Amino acid sequence: MRLPKPSTIEIAPSVLSADFARLADEVKEMEKCGVKIIHLDIMDAHFVPNLTFGAPVIAKLRKYSTLCFDTHLMITDPDKYLDDFIKAGSDHITFHIETTNEPVKLIDRIHAAGLTAGVCIKPKTGVETIADIAALCDMVLVMTVEPGFGGQSFMYDAVQKCREIRNIVGNDVRIQVDGGIDPETSHIAVDCGADTLVAGSAVFSKPDRQKAINDILALRRS
Ligand code: DX5
Ligand code: ZN
Repeated sequence: MRLPKPSTIEIAPSVLSADFARLADEVKEMEKCGVKIIHLDIMDAHFVPNLTFGAPVIAKLRKYSTLCFDTHLMITDPDKYLDDFIKAGSDHITFHIETTNEPVKLIDRIHAAGLTAGVCIKPKTGVETIADIAALCDMVLVMTVEPGFGGQSFMYDAVQKCREIRNIVGNDVRIQVDGGIDPETSHIAVDCGADTLVAGSAVFSKPDRQKAINDILALRRS
């Protein structure tokens, strides 16, 4: 499935907190819960201090789900591995601006393969680093924790960057937030202009996933 067009609020559950031994079932459950996007965190133990999985896992998972596969590349040298993640069946690929000097080249390669493209900034990376290229993307990802681990606390300063990015890209580009999203922080992110909410532990660590998703999307005030 392609990335939904902007204007709707979407949740993108992150499998980082799922049971990796039952990954296909976990993703199927998300499909039953009505989500459209599944967030796939790729970590290389180099750009970030943790290791997850690679393109072969995505390729196997592809057979079990039609959800939008939203691949978040937290890897050094995305240029080198991009084709693997395209061929594996990603629908959308986000790379980190901190990992490349040629972001336009990466965006063009992703688009040429028929996928949607995203660029991500870490909490300490300024919006000016992506100001010239944000509008070329289909989605901009603002990290609201230091990338590497699930279950960290939401960074209230970092989410403010969504406002500046919304001013730059207008309403034609999705703005995604990732890290510490739960029923208490999701409304803050949306107030700042985000429309795509990654949530790992707040979904997969709960016994009732449908309720967990509904609570995050209820956008109630804390
Ligand atoms: C962190 C990852 C996130 C992570 C979020 O580096 O990019 O996608 O799964 O986990 P939570 O929602 O638990 O903060
Ligand atoms: Zn992520």
